[in-house]
Amino acid sequence: MLGKEISQAVIGRLPRYFRYLGELKDNGVERISSQELSELMQVTASQIRQDFNNFGGFGQQGYGYNVEYLYNEIGKILGLDTIHSFVIIGAGNLGTALGNYLNFERRGFVFRGIFDQNPALIGNLVRGIPVRSMEELPGFLRENEIEIAVLTIPKTGALGLVDTLVECGIKGIWNFAHVDLDVPEGVQVENVHLSDSLMKLSYNISSQNAGKE
Ligand code: NAI
Repeated sequence: MLGKEISQAVIGRLPRYFRYLGELKDNGVERISSQELSELMQVTASQIRQDFNNFGGFGQQGYGYNVEYLYNEIGKILGLDTIHSFVIIGAGNLGTALGNYLNFERRGFVFRGIFDQNPALIGNLVRGIPVRSMEELPGFLRENEIEIAVLTIPKTGALGLVDTLVECGIKGIWNFAHVDLDVPEGVQVENVHLSDSLMKLSYNISSQNAGKE
């Protein structure tokens, strides 16, 4: 891959390209022009070309894009050509829902363990994996070389856990707790706030209604 820095805006659009290309590939489509991809995805063709130019292009004049090649290359850029193991911390509603979601495995994210501080939950199975106690967490992370921790616990718990996760070699935190986490260099945090998306929806409904008045 080219050594240049790619903007977060471009990175943020890659998963959507990856999803569409995956569907095209599954439907037996071998090649697609940027115009066709643009119509399908409702993104301008120039945006698509600009995005792909960050990675050296991918397209061939007069041919368009080879779907499978492009799908694989974007997958590599997103780091999806390797296996990422993850554990979930917090075996409540959200944690168990994520643990039960099978599609993460399709993308190479392997669910390895789930932990909770509530003794009543220890031993419960989530997709065949027993909920373990928090005391077992450090040893488990080290022994199994876990890369990602998914935090589905309240914010105070999340804040208190970061140092342990970092010490035990966690490289990425998928953070559902409503708090910003302070991590050292070399550790990545991706915050997920479902309500942000809902508020965006609310804004769009409100502004649409306002336009009708
Ligand atoms: P829940 O109450 O069903 O589950 C939370 C679980 O975390 C419980 O089993 C509890 O025993 C465990 N827990 C609490 N503190 C812990 C700690 N320090 N160490 C280990 N385990 C701990 O709650 P739910 O609905 O699963 O939500 C979990 C968290 O995620 C909540 O704080 C909620 O605010 C947040 N949330 C965030 C969303 C987002 O979009 N970012 C969406 C939904 C929930």
